[in-house]
Amino acid sequence: MKDLQDSGLPFYTPHTDECTVFKTAHAKGLPLLLKGPTGCGKTRFVEHMAARLGLPLHTVACHDDLSAADLIGRYLLKGGETVWVDGPLTRAVREGGICYLDEVVEARKDVTVVLHPLTDDRRRLVIDRTGEELQAPPSFMLVASYNPGYQTVLKKLKPSTRQRFLSIGFDFPEPGIETQVVAAETGLDTMRAGALVRLAGHVRHLSGMDLEEGVSTRLLIYAGTLIQGGMQVERAIEAAIVEPLSDEPEVQQALRDLAASVYG
Ligand SMILES: Nc1ncnc2c1ncn2[C@@H]1O[C@H](COP(=O)(O)OP(=O)(O)OP(=O)(O)O)[C@@H](O)[C@H]1O
Ligand SMILES: [Mg+2]
Repeated sequence: MKDLQDSGLPFYTPHTDECTVFKTAHAKGLPLLLKGPTGCGKTRFVEHMAARLGLPLHTVACHDDLSAADLIGRYLLKGGETVWVDGPLTRAVREGGICYLDEVVEARKDVTVVLHPLTDDRRRLVIDRTGEELQAPPSFMLVASYNPGYQTVLKKLKPSTRQRFLSIGFDFPEPGIETQVVAAETGLDTMRAGALVRLAGHVRHLSGMDLEEGVSTRLLIYAGTLIQGGMQVERAIEAAIVEPLSDEPEVQQALRDLAASVYG
């Protein structure tokens, strides 16, 4: 996979004006929420922008056990002594970097209590355990992401949290851009990358009906990587698209039929 452009930045092809929104949000000290399906480029976008702005990036994959202490830090026993160890959010605040909370809806409720004073005009991080209160420096930015497709009634961002963030809705890029992305990441020529993107267009029409979510750019890149590695197209699509997307024999057959119509 090609990770670096000539510029040395993590490779990222913008969908529209998201880089400008990110840069402006950062300059104005506003937090940003990225919404979108799995594998559409959210993480790569944040990595690219962090590098472009020259800021350290602390990424936290949120899960339903993630607590405020996991973000802020805790006392740990080290060689018989208890020492305070900053968590990733505290480190990002101290350094004036970016903290990226991936799948933020998964985090426990006590996390939102920490995020609120940090994501409004106070820009403060309160560390209860040490009594410290940090004022976030101007370069600090909080970025979060979530996949609206996975939302349930139980797991929803509260409006009071949601409305503290600017938001960008991501989707899969339009075919011309997605072809560029697949070609650049896999080394396939644009003809062969374009065929995978055409297949994706058909598959995404199935989503909602038979599929939970359409095929991601990530899976197209997997398929392209296998093809570029010398694997037969049909086998590559089976391993990178058909099997990952569904366990249902009829749905899998529908996916194979779509592939046959594109490659037939
Ligand atoms: N616009 C883009 N420019 C460059 N690469 C991209 C772009 N979009 C997607 N990719 C590629 O797709 C892969 C998956 O993207 P990424 O990991 O950023 O998805 P994501 O939206 O963070 O997914 P998830 O919600 O599952 O974490 C990346 O590793 C990268 O190879
Ligand atoms: Mg991601």
